[in-house]
Amino acid sequence: MEELLETFFRHGHHEGIVVTLNEDGSPNTAPMGVDLERPYLLLRPYLTTKTYVNLRMFPELTINLTWDSLLFYRSLYGLKELRFRGSRKVKTPVIDGGIDLYVEGEVLKVLEDRVLGYAEVLVKPLDAYLGSGSRLAYSRADALLIEVMIYLTKAEVFAEVNPEVASMLVERMEPYLLIAERLGSDEVREIALELRSRLARFRRG
Ligand SMILES: Cc1cc2nc3c(=O)[nH]c(=O)nc-3n(C[C@H](O)[C@H](O)[C@H](O)COP(=O)(O)O)c2cc1C
Repeated sequence: MEELLETFFRHGHHEGIVVTLNEDGSPNTAPMGVDLERPYLLLRPYLTTKTYVNLRMFPELTINLTWDSLLFYRSLYGLKELRFRGSRKVKTPVIDGGIDLYVEGEVLKVLEDRVLGYAEVLVKPLDAYLGSGSRLAYSRADALLIEVMIYLTKAEVFAEVNPEVASMLVERMEPYLLIAERLGSDEVREIALELRSRLARFRRG
């Protein structure tokens, strides 16, 4: 397990899809940054996320690593289109699909920062194993779409408290979408179109 974590998290900070359990036992998914804090993993969910609320209630999770922007997109906006299957060590399922590495874990410690509005959640990995793989070469289109999703979700958080900042964040995303559309497949262009219409809601003026 340690070797897989060292390999897949070798840049220190990576993005994954975190699955947690809702109160009714159904899965919730959200892309989240994951840091390797040997021998543990560290998440920084905003206190307002369902992921955080769920982890406080039921402190087990799976982390699903992939290159595929479609899976990131579905984990945010198309949960119904994701398939799940049982995990090995925890009750929380894993995503059934193009996943490179699965990590199952339990929450070891939580530190809330109420001023900044997020928590540091230290996760003890219980198991790590390969999935069927995203089977995808590095694509700038995937990377840029995932970047757009990061700023779109930030804009969603800022929209209430600071609409100016939300608007500034979405303006910055247009060049990324243009490149993704130029380099990507029809699938990428479809996601880009969806993201563009979501971004439009935060535009001012
Ligand atoms: C690649 C990526 C990484 C993200 N990392 C984080 C993170 O580390 N912490 C966080 O709170 N939100 C992060 N987000 C935003 C959440 O995924 C987003 O707010 C989501 O809607 C939370 O879902 P939930 O309320 O179901 O947990 C990230 C988004 C993307 C696309």
